[in-house]
Amino acid sequence: MIEPTVAVVIVAAGSGTRLGADTPKAFATLRGIPILEHALDGVLRSSAPAQLVVVAPAAYLAQARAIGERLAPRAVDVVAGGDTRQRSVAAGLAALHPSVRTVLVHDAARALTPPEQIDRVVRAVEATGAGVIPALPVTDTIKRVDAQAAVGTVDRSELVAVQTPQGFPRADLDAAYAAAADEHTDDAALFSAWGGAVSVVPGEARAFKITTPWDLRRAERELGDAAGIRTGVGIDVHAYDSGQPLWLGGLYWPDEVGLAGHSDGDALCHAVCDALLSAAGLGDIGGRFGTADPRFAGAHGDVFIRETLALVHGAGYTVGNVAVQLVAKHPRLGARRVELESHLSRLVGAPVSVAATTSDGLGFTGRAEGVAVIATALVSRDR
Ligand code: CTP
Ligand code: MG
Repeated sequence: MIEPTVAVVIVAAGSGTRLGADTPKAFATLRGIPILEHALDGVLRSSAPAQLVVVAPAAYLAQARAIGERLAPRAVDVVAGGDTRQRSVAAGLAALHPSVRTVLVHDAARALTPPEQIDRVVRAVEATGAGVIPALPVTDTIKRVDAQAAVGTVDRSELVAVQTPQGFPRADLDAAYAAAADEHTDDAALFSAWGGAVSVVPGEARAFKITTPWDLRRAERELGDAAGIRTGVGIDVHAYDSGQPLWLGGLYWPDEVGLAGHSDGDALCHAVCDALLSAAGLGDIGGRFGTADPRFAGAHGDVFIRETLALVHGAGYTVGNVAVQLVAKHPRLGARRVELESHLSRLVGAPVSVAATTSDGLGFTGRAEGVAVIATALVSRDR
């Protein structure tokens, strides 16, 4: 697109104080994908071919460019924002192509804004030649308060809750920004203060702004029924070592051939740990509890499971259940399966089911060289 007539400025340079993530809000993830990427994806799915300008924190320009590249190679301009939203918008406006006639200003924090809302605003600006804001009716009763005392009820029929994108004729918004002396809470307020007319089009509930941790969870739920629920998988293999006692599933198995390993070789517990870490997106047991770490030399499976659960809970997840299957010629689980399940369920704090099979004489398990264990785990985000 050489001469775009529409531009969307996506402001993503805020710090996200109220969200309290360990990155600026636009780079916090929503179902594993940065908030900015969700917002950009919505804009790219709208029908207007537009210049896209992302305004990012100065320290995050490379990350913002990488997100732009992923979604729309070479089509996204990235500039550094300022210390207020208004300054960030001004930085975005300064990057517009001269051919742009209609400009939309959009909060990255409104990550789930439907593309139709973006199209609606573009069309309304082009039809009216005025500023356009999407808004929803206010459903709560609104009170005026003085300290703790309610001193009056505001007539809500004359109120709306305003969203983004807000759209404007480009030359007028440039003039309004050039003239702005005060800080305004949104672009339409700044535009009105300059003397511009602003009209309202319908907004949508999905265009809500992610401000607090609760909003982030709401966005996760909006993204699907299964949102907030994740599965994980883990596999572990250990060779038999006849010089070792057998520890499997956190239990001691007398008179059975043991397993080799830096720890006690408990492949079953290790597979459970990997499944739990995988479900919570926390990597794997090798990366978390390195074989070089002397704390884990000879450590029992229980120790790894407890340490793993501390990480999983720390990341805000509750375990739903774990399922494990042992592929091995021996030991035979049969007689101890119930004991094993209750031991592991107590340890994990959720149902753990254990099954076993052989591999029909095939492969290393068939040749009785060692055991393989596969596990899956289901976790959900704490509400
Ligand atoms: N924004 C910006 N530059 C700023 C402040 C805000 O680009 N200096 C952007 C934010 O990234 C966000 C949008 O403006 O997409 C709406 O602001 P808000 O929801 O208040 O985000 P933050 O300012 O980041 O959050 P908080 O106020 O909780 O710190
Ligand atoms: Mg803010």
